[in-house]
Order: sequence, then structure tokens, then C-alpha cells
Amino acid sequence: MGKYIINGGRSLNGNVKIQGAKNAILPMFAGAILTGESVFIENCPNIVDVENMSKILHLLGADIERKGEGINITCEELLHNEIPARLAKELRSSVFLLGPMLGRGRKAKVAYPGGCDIGLRPIDIHLKALSEMNVKIQEKYGYIYCDASEMRGSHVTLDYPSVGATENVMLLAVTAKGTTTISNSAREPEIVDLMHFLNSMGAKVSGAGTPFIKIEGVSDLHSTSYRAIPDRIEAGTYLTAVAVCGGEVTLEDCKMEHLNAVVSKISKSYCKITEESDNINIIVDGRPCAMDTIDTQPYPGFPTDLQAQISVVASVAKGTTVITENIFEARFKHVPELIRMGARVKVRDRTAIFNGVERLRGAEVNATDLRGGAALVVAGLNASGTTIVNDIRHIERGYDKLEEKLSALGADIVKV
Ligand code: UD1
Repeated sequence: MGKYIINGGRSLNGNVKIQGAKNAILPMFAGAILTGESVFIENCPNIVDVENMSKILHLLGADIERKGEGINITCEELLHNEIPARLAKELRSSVFLLGPMLGRGRKAKVAYPGGCDIGLRPIDIHLKALSEMNVKIQEKYGYIYCDASEMRGSHVTLDYPSVGATENVMLLAVTAKGTTTISNSAREPEIVDLMHFLNSMGAKVSGAGTPFIKIEGVSDLHSTSYRAIPDRIEAGTYLTAVAVCGGEVTLEDCKMEHLNAVVSKISKSYCKITEESDNINIIVDGRPCAMDTIDTQPYPGFPTDLQAQISVVASVAKGTTVITENIFEARFKHVPELIRMGARVKVRDRTAIFNGVERLRGAEVNATDLRGGAALVVAGLNASGTTIVNDIRHIERGYDKLEEKLSALGADIVKV
């Protein structure tokens, strides 16, 4: 499984290039099967989620080829309409494939998806939305069978602005007959990016970034070469690392506008964060200040995917920070590990109260999910002595070259 060994206590200095956004690119992979022509994603990180998505697409009939920083996907013919449980369990994003598989082949059979172990993660909103587009759905033995022979554009209302369900409907509606509207759609930057990507293939999507998206179906999509937005969660992870280690770091190729909710929490007296064209500069001198309250919310609120990492800042901040997780019900799995490293935290239901200590202590800890695992790395960079983070495959699902990038900034971290 691999582990990181970290000797903490070094400040971080230098430049780090931010990868293409995992959560923008995975639905683009799904969208790539909507055409028989080639789709090139120019900045695709080398991460386990991309590897797993590539395996699934390959199984469906796509040729996938890495070319430098990018990846080329060509699905001349959709050979299968089924995603086996073995692969779907590895990757929750396999559920996005329902939309494009139906768009291309009209029938699909998908096993209930997997992904991070951070809560129940049902897919009822996806299925309700698809049935509103007249897709016939049956659930049997852990598989979902869909038939879209009579699907049509429709008015879809989401009970909750689910990111995945919004993307799934967009991916189905682009080639459905007629016009589809999505009310209460998610507004994440990755949704806006999916709109631009699909439009670059000839789709007619408008309104992404607002709670109302309109999609006019077209009969064919074509080839594209597309550069995804920078990964705001990777960028936010580096911001928290510098916040607890001190130093001066420039994050290259990233967008401050996607990180406002995070920057507003850590940009206090000890820390200066500025933006210059596509770079964010962070200078940290001194111990973090407590952040009062942090509530995870759909975008533009504080992202649940940075809750674990910001909790490390709260662990070593002067004073008390109260963090409430509103999106996923089991997303404090990193907290017992932080407590082993000396953090003072009380969890009550969906709220964790942090009373900051001066510094964490090294310990052997286990990554149990992607972002919680990244938080333990950030904690290890702050801690005195040696920290061992086990089960780093979870972390490698979403971070390309994490140890190399941190080492280049002066951290003492090795992967074994
Ligand atoms: C996406 C992101 C994930 C991020 C999350 C919230 C990808 C690949 N993953 O996940 O990193 O943490 O958005 O920003 O882009 N829900 C239901 N029924 C459904 C769908 C969702 O109850 O049919 C619930 C989920 O259990 C969760 C909440 O809605 O509690 C948000 O889920 P959703 O926005 O769909 O997140 P994902 O698309 O799974």
C-alpha cells in the first residue's frame, strides 16, 4: 500500500505547479465517450482515480493514450454497456458514465458506485433526474439497469444541488432530443468547466455556475482539445500546508476566485495571500489564528474536500475553531489520527471543536480516505519528530507527485 515518512518542522518555500482539477477531468473522461472522435485533455494528472477511470473506459471500448501532460481518449465504438462491480467500486465517478453510456448506446448496466469511505453517498438524486428524462430504471442485485430508448429533453429539478447528479444530467442531455433544463443545479467551478468542455465538442449548454442550466440537445459531438481548470482542492491543500509550516510559496496556474471561501478563513494577521495573474502567493510568519467557525457548504461555500486539511490548521491555531461538516456524514475519520498526534479535538455528531496546540507530535497514522489522508500529511509536516502515514493509495487517488512537490518546497518527506 505504501507509506510516507515525514520529518516535520521545516518551513516551505518556493514554487509549486497546480495540477488539472481531478473533479473536472473525471466527468470529461465520461463525456469523451459521447463521440467517436478523439478527445484530448491537455493537463491530466497522473493519479489513481484517472487510472481507474481509464480502465473502465478501456473496457467500454476506448483507446487511451498518455501524451506528455495530457491524455487522449478515442471511443470509436462503444463495445459494452456495462460497468462491472469490481471497477465501479473503485471509483464513485463511474456513476457519471450512466449519462454518456445512455447517450451513446441507449442502454446501460452499472454497479452501485464506490469512492471514498466518507458516508452513505446514495445515488437517488441521479436516478430521479434520469427518470425525469424518461429513462426507464430498474435496480436489481446491486446493479442499476437503464433504458433510454424513449428519453427526451425535460425539466429536471434536483432536490439537492448534487455535483455528480448535475454532471450526469448534463452528460445525458447534450445528445438527447429537445431541450433540458436543470433547476437547483450545483454551481461548482467543475460544472462550469464541464459546460465549456462539452461546448468545445459542439454541445449547446448555458447557465452553468448558476442554479439553472439549459441544454439544447444536438445530434453529434466532435473532437476537442481542452485544458481543464486548476485543481482548487490541491491548491487549497498546499495553502494549509504553508499555513502550518510557515514560509513563502507561490502556487502556479491556479485561480484565487475558486478559493475565496478558504482564503477568507486562513488570511488573517499571521498570513498574507495575494494573487498575481494565475499565481497565488502565500507568506506565513507565525502561528495560525483560530478561525471561529467553518461550515462546509456547496460552492461558493467552504468546500467539504478541504475540511480535513483546514482542521490541521485549526489543530495548531491560537484559540478555538468549530468546524461543522454539512455535506458528508462520516468525514471526521482523520480526527482520531490527529488526536494521536496531540491535537485537542472533541467531535459531537457533525461538529468538531478544536482547541489549538502549539505544535503536533509525530506518530504512525493511517489514511482512511483521500482528503483525510492528505490532512495527515499536512499534520506530519507541522509535527515534531517523525510521522508515518500508512495506506497512501487513498491519497494517490487525487494528488500527483505529492511527495516530490513537497520535497521541492523543502519538506522532508519520502515515499516507501
Ligand atoms: C463531488 C466530488 C467530491 C465532493 C462532492 C461535494 C467528484 C468526482 N467528486 O462528489 O469530491 O466532495 O462533490 O462537493 O466530483 N447525495 C444524495 N443522493 C445522490 C447524490 C448525492 O443523497 O443521488 C448526497 C451525498 O451523499 C452527499 C451530498 O449529496 O451527502 C453531496 O453529494 P454530491 O454533490 O453528489 O457529491 P459527489 O458528486 O458524489
